Amino acid sequence: MLYKFEKIDGEKVFECGNTRIKILISERELSRRVRELGQEITRDYKDKNPVLISVLRGSFIFVADICREIKIPVTFDFMAVSSYGDSKVSSGIVRITKDLEFSIENRDVIIIEDIVDSGRTLNYLVKNLKARNPKNMEVCALLDKNVPRKTVNKIKYKGFDIPNKFVVGYGLDFAEKYRNFPFIGYIENE
Ligand code: IMP
Ligand code: MG
Repeated sequence: MLYKFEKIDGEKVFECGNTRIKILISERELSRRVRELGQEITRDYKDKNPVLISVLRGSFIFVADICREIKIPVTFDFMAVSSYGDSKVSSGIVRITKDLEFSIENRDVIIIEDIVDSGRTLNYLVKNLKARNPKNMEVCALLDKNVPRKTVNKIKYKGFDIPNKFVVGYGLDFAEKYRNFPFIGYIENE
């Protein structure tokens, strides 16, 4: 089955079998904004050697793109957490399914997240990682969903504010599908 692009009512949509995806952020917009974020990080971390902690699986494309826009030495580590299962609604329980390989003690840490929804995952991660005594820790998130939250961790490097819709593409999935779309969109007909 091949993907199909179409214009319906002047809007760009993407068809994947019977599923219709409305494009929210195009490939071009993504790459422009990711470049800007990389430049900001480059400026702020000049003379430093931060570790980028990518939260799997959703941020694998984002981290691959942004790291190539960061023009200073960085190292990488990966962490996997799970809170959704196959649902569109967060279960609220955050579980580490893969921990870091390296110590972050005394390091400049940048958490690379795909999206902040309820903020539970990020709050949990920040708390968990702060306990490991990094020198400094900041958050870089591609998407910030417009939802009411109790506690919010400051997102220092933010890609886009988006409406409260369940989005897919550019690493983000629905039940593990659609991660390889080059854009961010939402499912229209479900
Ligand atoms: P939170 O804990 O509710 O902030 O959810 C954060 C995590 O849930 C993200 O790291 C994503 O993996 C996933 N998530 C939240 N919203 C979406 C969405 O709209 N599409 C796909 N994944 C999402
Ligand atoms: Mg996910």
